[in-house]
Amino acid sequence: MNSQDVRPMGIARMRSIAALACAGLVSSAPCFSQAGVAALPPMGWNSWNHFAERVTDADIRTAADLLVSTGMRESGYLYVNVDDTWQGKRDAHGELHPNERFPDMKALSDYIHARGLKFGIYSSPGARTCGGYEGSLGHEAQDAQMYAAWGVDFLKYDLCSFQEQMQQARAAHPNDADAARNVMVAAFRKMGEALRATGRPILYSLCQYGVDQPWKWGPSVGASMWRTTDDIDDSYGRMIAIGFSQAGLAKFAGSGAWNDPDMLEIGNGKMSPDEYRTHMSLWVILAAPLLAGNDLSRMSATDRDILRNADAIAIDQDSLGKQGERLYQSGDLDVWTKPLGDGRVAVGLFNRSWSRREVSVDLAAIGFPDGARLRDVWAQKDLGHRSGIFTDTVVKHGVTLLIVGK
Ligand code: GLA
Repeated sequence: MNSQDVRPMGIARMRSIAALACAGLVSSAPCFSQAGVAALPPMGWNSWNHFAERVTDADIRTAADLLVSTGMRESGYLYVNVDDTWQGKRDAHGELHPNERFPDMKALSDYIHARGLKFGIYSSPGARTCGGYEGSLGHEAQDAQMYAAWGVDFLKYDLCSFQEQMQQARAAHPNDADAARNVMVAAFRKMGEALRATGRPILYSLCQYGVDQPWKWGPSVGASMWRTTDDIDDSYGRMIAIGFSQAGLAKFAGSGAWNDPDMLEIGNGKMSPDEYRTHMSLWVILAAPLLAGNDLSRMSATDRDILRNADAIAIDQDSLGKQGERLYQSGDLDVWTKPLGDGRVAVGLFNRSWSRREVSVDLAAIGFPDGARLRDVWAQKDLGHRSGIFTDTVVKHGVTLLIVGK
């Protein structure tokens, strides 16, 4: 369920995909993706979607405790990531101190590690983060060393105010269509190299909203995952707009190199259980990082069961490391498949309409001409051996998620 559990074949595949992804990049700099830290899509919890700029040290400690007591850790949610707004001011030596809401980062890190979890943090290549706090511009190596000293395991690095530097590059080189992109990639590489220089494995997560196809150059800057879109919010419309827009990106993902359609909103209260099941189904078919973003102290049994469904998580964490793709779309109906190890296939039958609809998949067309055994992930039921066209009635905004295999 976590990166330690990956099978040898998965690791071999991881290396080959990272190598492929590193080919043909924007510069001749060597590729150094820290694939080992993200052999499978990273799983954890991040403070932003629920706590946003109000987050405190106490909230993070509580989240760490709750990851353990709710069984989330057991399910594989290991990273505890502090997002934006932890930063205070730099001192005369340029050293960044956390603000008063985070009195002691090393102690917080120790608290998280003592619970068998991993500690993540957030910064920006710009002078300011998206929340207007201190970024890492000009202090990359110093900040990376400080993260390593704190025991940080994950860095989310968010473009934010670095867009000013990109604009300046565009203005200075009006005839160079790549000027802005090149300074951006260089800035992300700078931190990637600074992290590597610390000698501590720190998972490097790019957040630049999918600008300039990060899936093509992310591995070259040391990243293991990169956002593919602008921010998610806790609404069905935004969630499906992001999720279904991922068609065509599967070939850029693999072990150590994950497309990130943003963090989970499951449990934040503004979608129905069927809509949250659609959210989870789509993300696991996409082999997306699973970073929960809810208030774990108020997690309902329904939301917990969605986040902890073992079959759904097994689809995401499958050792083959393949991102799924759209099989077909017809109006509001969408069928997606994800190849799994041992020749099985995960299938999502999605109904985006406002009424119950029948959604079908031709089992022969997905590699089972003689039929296959079906498991319904959300009903947690084996459906027995089926052949030909399998049809299910799917509720509005809902999904039937299947594991199909011999
Ligand atoms: C951006 C990111 C979000 C979050 C905020 C914090 O919007 O995309 O995920 O990190 O910044 O300010």
